[in-house]
Amino acid sequence: MLNNIADVSFYGGVGFGCFWVLRALYRLSPFHPLAKIPGPRLAAMTTWYEFYFSVIQDGQFIFKTIEWHEKYGPVVRIGPNEVHISDPTFYNTLYSKDYRFTKAKDHYRFAQQKEGGLGNTNNRTHKARRNVLDPLFSTQSVFKLEPRIRKYVDMAMARISRSVEKSEKEGFEINMVFRCLTVDVISEYAYSEAIGMLENERLNDPFFVAMDNLIGLTWVYNWTWVMQDVLMALPFGVVRRILPPDVLAVVDFQKQAEARVISFLADPEKAKAKSTHTTVFEVLLTGNEEKGYEVPSLRALKEEAWGFLAAGSETTAAALSNGIYEACKVPKIQDKLYGELLAEFPDPDATPITYKRALQLPYLSAFIKETLRLPPGVPGRLPRVVPQGGITVCGQFVPADTTIGMSSILQHNDPNIFKEPSKFDPDRWIRDKIPEQYFVPFGKGSRGCQGMNLAWAELYLMYANLLRRYRFEFHKSSTLVDGWTDQFIPKREGKLRVVVVPREK
Ligand code: HEM
Repeated sequence: MLNNIADVSFYGGVGFGCFWVLRALYRLSPFHPLAKIPGPRLAAMTTWYEFYFSVIQDGQFIFKTIEWHEKYGPVVRIGPNEVHISDPTFYNTLYSKDYRFTKAKDHYRFAQQKEGGLGNTNNRTHKARRNVLDPLFSTQSVFKLEPRIRKYVDMAMARISRSVEKSEKEGFEINMVFRCLTVDVISEYAYSEAIGMLENERLNDPFFVAMDNLIGLTWVYNWTWVMQDVLMALPFGVVRRILPPDVLAVVDFQKQAEARVISFLADPEKAKAKSTHTTVFEVLLTGNEEKGYEVPSLRALKEEAWGFLAAGSETTAAALSNGIYEACKVPKIQDKLYGELLAEFPDPDATPITYKRALQLPYLSAFIKETLRLPPGVPGRLPRVVPQGGITVCGQFVPADTTIGMSSILQHNDPNIFKEPSKFDPDRWIRDKIPEQYFVPFGKGSRGCQGMNLAWAELYLMYANLLRRYRFEFHKSSTLVDGWTDQFIPKREGKLRVVVVPREK
């Protein structure tokens, strides 16, 4: 019996080894459809090369991709069946409004997204869902719900004002306020029920433990998706016993989102009666079926529930932190912003800072764009699939079914578009005529960011309030560094701790 098992294992192993070698040779051979596309041989041979730079080297794949473009040109084979493009003029073709290039599978496995908005690769169901959800996130809707967003901005400001004295001695970790703000805003906005992070000062809430864990292990989760599926299927009581607390927090966060869906489905009328405005679930469950709309599966609804929370919080909070970090580095920028804000809002206590008025301010607008340019909120590639017939890019033919992607970090660093690209320079947006098409922090097209109008409003309202009322300096205990790794969003080491100095009333 033992002999049999050993024999089967031996021959199985040899068989798999032969298959692996033959497949690698085929991938390197002139017979492979991507044979003519330049790139490192190891990347063409195996996806484990990506694994090495993403997982072992921790978020370095994007930086390798940039190096490969310098060596091989604008079209590079970065995987056995994947190419990456560095040609800003191609961005609008790849990320177009017509679903020509379908979203590639598997890129959002780290966030357990298969059927929800972020990860759905079925163009028909995605389009139908976006059609019903987009009006909730339109500019008009954001203006309509602005008082609710302002409520949380005011709470965040109150939290910051309470920190003034302490911040001088100990430094104030401002990012935690941004995280609380963005979670409360997206939960109130999408579900009409804020999680209450600001109100209860839940700065160490398990949600943030979960997000830190997710951000720290993005690519590990992407490569271990089978294990995640198993964990999600197990009863929570069992999972609780086997997982370390920070991983458990991720599962817990997803289970809480599920509970939200289940309670909505149990009594939709009661949930609607409680809500102050139309919510994501209401819309998803009442789309017009006669017009071909299909109510999403329970799994899709659950994924939407946690997808909106995750996509709508950490990205915007990171952008806000990035802005304050840059503003601390160059106090002149803060003074210029303050001058503009003081002229427009001489007495913010008497006349509130509104989104509409903040939007008109040129230097504030330039500053916000610059905070979204480098590093971009989602710096790495957004993979799509080449449609039937293939496509020719920069003289290279890329055949159908190839995975193809571009990265905003390359676009935003292009010296032909942005002079001295690595310099944080808000004035470039006023001084240089930068075509909007090359500025892509929110992606573009049919799969571009659904929440970008909400994000803009949060950024304008928060920065206008912060920089009108306070000046920020690095506290000596601040350890945040310039460099970052790609964890789907840029992750920086260290903590931003600031001293909060009130401006004149
Ligand atoms: C500064 C803040 C933000 C940045 C930089 C950002 C960036 C992005 C990017 C680049 C994508 C495209 C992903 C892809 O093509 O695969 C995206 C998609 C998405 N974002 Fe955002 N985002 C931000 C804020 C928000 C907010 C506040 C929400 C809340 C509603 C949100 C919800 C979504 C959703 C649902 C998608 C998926 C869209 C789809 O595939 O149809 N995002 N975001």
